[in-house]
Formats: sequence, structure tokens, C-alpha cells
Amino acid sequence: MPQQGGAGRDIAPATGKLGVMLVGLGAVSTTFIAGVENVRRGTALPIGSLTQMGTIRLGKRTDHRAPKIKEFLPLADLKDLAFTAWDPIPDDAYTAARKAGVLEPHHLEPIADFLKGITPLPAAFDRNYVKRLNGTHVKNAPTKRELAEELRQDIRDFKQRSGADRLVMIWAASTEVFLTPGPAHQSLAAFERAMECNDPAIAPSMLYAYAALMENVPFANGAPNLTVDIPALERLAEERRLPIGGKDFKTGQTMMKTVLAPAFKARMLGLAGWYSTNILGNRDGEVLDDPESFKTKEESKLGVLEYILQPDQYPELYGNVFHKVRINYYPPRGDNKEGWDNIDIFGWLGYPMQIKVDFLCRDSILAAPIVLDLALYFDLAQRARLSGIQEWLSFYFKSPQTAPGLYPEHDLFIQQTKLKNTLRWLKGEEQITHLGIEYYEKA
Ligand SMILES: NC(=O)c1ccc[n+]([C@@H]2O[C@H](COP(=O)([O-])OP(=O)(O)OC[C@H]3O[C@@H](n4cnc5c(N)ncnc54)[C@H](O)[C@@H]3O)[C@@H](O)[C@H]2O)c1
Repeated sequence: MPQQGGAGRDIAPATGKLGVMLVGLGAVSTTFIAGVENVRRGTALPIGSLTQMGTIRLGKRTDHRAPKIKEFLPLADLKDLAFTAWDPIPDDAYTAARKAGVLEPHHLEPIADFLKGITPLPAAFDRNYVKRLNGTHVKNAPTKRELAEELRQDIRDFKQRSGADRLVMIWAASTEVFLTPGPAHQSLAAFERAMECNDPAIAPSMLYAYAALMENVPFANGAPNLTVDIPALERLAEERRLPIGGKDFKTGQTMMKTVLAPAFKARMLGLAGWYSTNILGNRDGEVLDDPESFKTKEESKLGVLEYILQPDQYPELYGNVFHKVRINYYPPRGDNKEGWDNIDIFGWLGYPMQIKVDFLCRDSILAAPIVLDLALYFDLAQRARLSGIQEWLSFYFKSPQTAPGLYPEHDLFIQQTKLKNTLRWLKGEEQITHLGIEYYEKA
């Protein structure tokens, strides 16, 4: 029974199928799809997915109420997910997964027929925005507006073909070159005019986001591109009561950064420098080898420390931090990235200390459960009539989108509290404040 938490929100039931539309059918997307299919067939566990493995504490610690999140909320069931994707490379999901080299044959061969049935739709792709890719499986139209209309048609066709009741779209495509918000992004009218005259300010990712919103489909951005983080599309989402969010899945090195930096700040330990470097050999690494795509990623990776450490409030501790991030394309490693961090901290009376982190991770293994959770939570958000930016899902992003004038929360555990409190609020359950005085001061 809900306890003193307010009325909760009416949430439409998750009846029928949920169609997941992925932009990009590369390493992350195929690892996600193949993973879901393995889980559905009972051959693997959805490790790393909060929606599938996580529980949520309700009420007081002495109440011992901690249901699984997927039992607490009406999330779509994995058996009800259907998939499609766009990609400028025509490989089906099986071929793309083999080329990505993330999953081993025992996770791919038994589901080969299923994966071969997922063939990408021709992409709205422009090499000016992803310089290291040569896509051939692309849409051709005289204007960006017409490309967006073709994407809208793809959405309607997929809905009909798959029999899906609801859809979500997630950008898991390559990182586009760095763009900053300009006049074309300020209003829907300016955005639509810019699409008509092929304004370079309109990147392909924006066409997908626009098409999704015009078709009443929630949109989440897993890469650091600007995409839906512009006033024109934010307003469109609000007007059409659709959830949006981004940017850039928070997986390896940045996830660790948003765990360690809050610990230093909590203990008032100073920071002199943080040097982060990566070696990565997959297609994402190759795309990021282009300085313009790297710039987009660099901005996303650099932002987190500034917001967590608040140098304005703690100038003696964080007023002079040297923060450097490198990504080096190194083909032998494939998707098995290695991220090194050298962290120079200082303590009592200013004495220096060092911390080294060497994270031998697997990029797509970390990203796949995030795609799953985002698909399920964005669908939930739409059924709960949450619209516009979904800041409660910042837990999943390196550069969380926020309302204008609001700085983002990067601390992973603040983000987790925000997420879980939002789930409690949706169901009319009490918020957990961690005060706990009632266990000691009994009336
Ligand atoms: N894996 C992680 O840990 C992680 C973390 C954060 C962000 N990301 C981002 O997720 C994205 C996907 O990563 P990945 O490892 O799967 O990369 P990938 O290169 O394997 O796959 C990306 C796919 O997108 C396709 N693509 C490019 N432009 C497109 C367009 N306009 N329309 C449709 N498809 C397009 C490419 O052809 C490619 O197949 C990248 O932008 C990456 O930076 C990944």
C-alpha cells in the first residue's frame, strides 16, 4: 500500500508490443538486441540493467519492503520488445554483430536467424557530420525536410509492420561533429525553415529526433551530439507531451569519474589534476579519431568535474585543476577499451597523493543495459504523461540535459537517488530522505 507519498500518477498499462527504433546498428545496438534475445531465451542474465535486476526500497528500513523495480512499476516486458534500426551500412544485425566482435559465437549463433531478420533501413546520413564513415545505404532527397518526412514514413511503416502499440527511438549511431546552438535551433519555425533550405546547422541526428517527436515517439540520445538538446525540439517535445533526454551514455571512464570525484569532494580532499586516456579499436574509436567528432565527445567528458567539484565554492581545493581527456584509436583492442586515469589529489596541509585507475572494460557490454533501461523508462515516462526533458534519467548520461538555467547533477549516487525517488513519486510512495532520526528519537 502506498504510504504518505501523495497521489501518484496514473500510468497507462504496458499492453501490447513496444517497438524500439535504434538509430545506428553498430556495436552498441547489436549487443543490446542480441542480449535481449538471449535473456528472453533464458541463456543469459541482463546484468547491468537496473530495470531488470534492481530493487527499490519502500518505506522505512524496518518495513523490509524492497520489490524488484520491474514488479513495482508497469514496465514493458522483454518478451514484448520488437526492434528496428537505420544504418548507412547495409549489414543485418547478425553481420554487424560479428563485425563488431563484442559477443562470442555462443551468444550469436543460436539466435542467428533472429538477428538476420533485422535489416537496417536506409539512413539519413551525411558524411559532413561523420567524416570517417563512408555510408552507401542512404536516403536521397533534395532537402533535409524531405529526409525527415521519409523518416516519419519509416516510423509509421515499422509501427504497422511490427504491430507495436508504442514506440521509442534511441540514437546509438556515430558521434557527429561538434555543433553549437544557433539561430536555426531556437524555434520550431526556424528549425523547419532551416531544414527546407538545407542549413548546415541541421545535423542528421536532429532529423531523426524531429521525425520521432512529430510521430509522438519519445527520443533519447546516447551520443554527445547536440541533437534534441536545442530549444526548438525541447519545446516541440513539451507541446506534444513527449519525453526526451540525453546526452551520451555514461558507461566506463566517466561513470568512474562521477563516483570518485564526489568522494573527494565529500571528504574535502583537493584535486590538482586528472589525466584520462583511452585506447579503443572499434568503429566508434575510428569515428572519434576525427578531431571534429572527438571535440563533441571531449566536451561531454570534460564537463563532469566542473559541476561536481564546484571550484567557485571551493577555490583552495578545486580552483586550479588540470583536466585532460584523450581517446586514441588502437585497432588491436576492438571494443575492449582500456581507460587509464591518473589522479593527483592533495590532503591535510596540502600533501600530494596519487590514484591510478586502469579500467579494462568492454564498451558495448556497459552500454547495452543502458539502452534497455532507457527504452523501458522512456516508454514508462510517456505512459505516465511526463513530458520534455527527463532529468531523472541523468543517471544514464555523461552530459545530462536539464531545464534552461539549471546545472546538471553528475554525481552517480545523487542521480540514482533522483531516479529512485521519481519512481516512488510516480507510485505515490514516500520519498526516502535518509534522515532516519525516527529510529532513535521515538515519540
Ligand atoms: N559503448 C559505449 O560505452 C558508449 C558510451 C557513450 C556513448 N556511446 C556512443 O554510442 C554510439 C554508438 O557506439 P557504437 O560503439 O555502437 O558505434 P558503432 O560505430 O559500432 O555504431 C554506430 C553505427 O551508427 C551508424 N551511423 C552513423 N551515422 C548514422 C546516421 N546518420 N543514421 C543511422 N546510422 C548511422 C554507423 O554506420 C554505425 O554502424 C557512438 O556515438 C558512441 O560514441 C557509446
